[in-house]
Amino acid sequence: MRRLRRRNLQLLFKEFRIFRESLIAPLFVDENLRGKIPVPSMPGVFRYAEPEIPDLARRLYRAGIRAILLFGIPRGKSENAEAAYAEDGIVQRSIRAVRKAVPEMVICTDVCACEYTTHGHCGIVGETAQGMDVLNDVSLDLMAAIAVSHARAGADIVAPSCMLDGVVFWTRAALDENGFEDVLILSYSTKFASALYGPFREAADSGYSFGDRTTYQLPPSNAREAFRESELDVGEGADLLMVKPAGWYLDVLARIKSLGLPVAAYQVSGEYAMIKAAAEKGWIDERKTVLESLISLQRAGADLIITYYAEQVAGWLDEE
Ligand code: PBG
Ligand code: ZN
Repeated sequence: MRRLRRRNLQLLFKEFRIFRESLIAPLFVDENLRGKIPVPSMPGVFRYAEPEIPDLARRLYRAGIRAILLFGIPRGKSENAEAAYAEDGIVQRSIRAVRKAVPEMVICTDVCACEYTTHGHCGIVGETAQGMDVLNDVSLDLMAAIAVSHARAGADIVAPSCMLDGVVFWTRAALDENGFEDVLILSYSTKFASALYGPFREAADSGYSFGDRTTYQLPPSNAREAFRESELDVGEGADLLMVKPAGWYLDVLARIKSLGLPVAAYQVSGEYAMIKAAAEKGWIDERKTVLESLISLQRAGADLIITYYAEQVAGWLDEE
């Protein structure tokens, strides 16, 4: 075997590569800001103000990043997340700004309610037999309205992340009905109730005020159920699937790849924060660790990788 690993032959036998074109950069736009502020638990990640978006989009595109995933933090939250589907909402305005600045940019948007609700849950809540919880069917129209508003503003890909049953079907129907047959649905099809979302909730101001998300997100212990979630979304009309978090769920990613649709792996805020923290302490080599984490996702079958390291990785690939 070691003949294959002779130094000058190593590149020749490389099975997987990281392509800049497969990376998606998440972006936070905060309606309350006049200038960007850092996210403390994610060094290098910022919440941006709307006026900064055009330059940011141009910078990313110049670095070779071809796709972004937009998250919005609205000025006003409400019980039923009205700001999430407002024609002139923060995400809707940001979509138009990016489209104008960089017409070729692939614009993906997170379709969820948690940044927009006062209670911080991913849908409309109400009293159930087991106490307050997200109401599934009642929330579907809200998700569809958010997705349609993003499509109307010019999004290429909408990504429902609420883990409500039927949301892909409902969103597809609403998009088609409104003339957006060409807009893709990237379903957060297999999303676990993970401890690794902690830093994101600080970044997106989307923490919840009661309960938790385990009545809609998946238990980390359940692989069959995780597969079934993605399988159902294929049937409902998803164009792209997702596994989230990424690094601790490679088995699930490999299985879901067998469904035949392109699969995105979301390297989440906690994965970013762990690498960053260890690197800042000088305990690991940041660049090697990040590139190894991404090649692992490729090996497991990821077609797309959503990572807060996107821009930095693009730079590293240039140097290689
Ligand atoms: C919204 C959403 C979350 C993430 C992406 N979309 C948070 C959550 O479900 O609580 C997490 C992303 C990350 O941790 O990087 N539903
Ligand atoms: Zn949510």
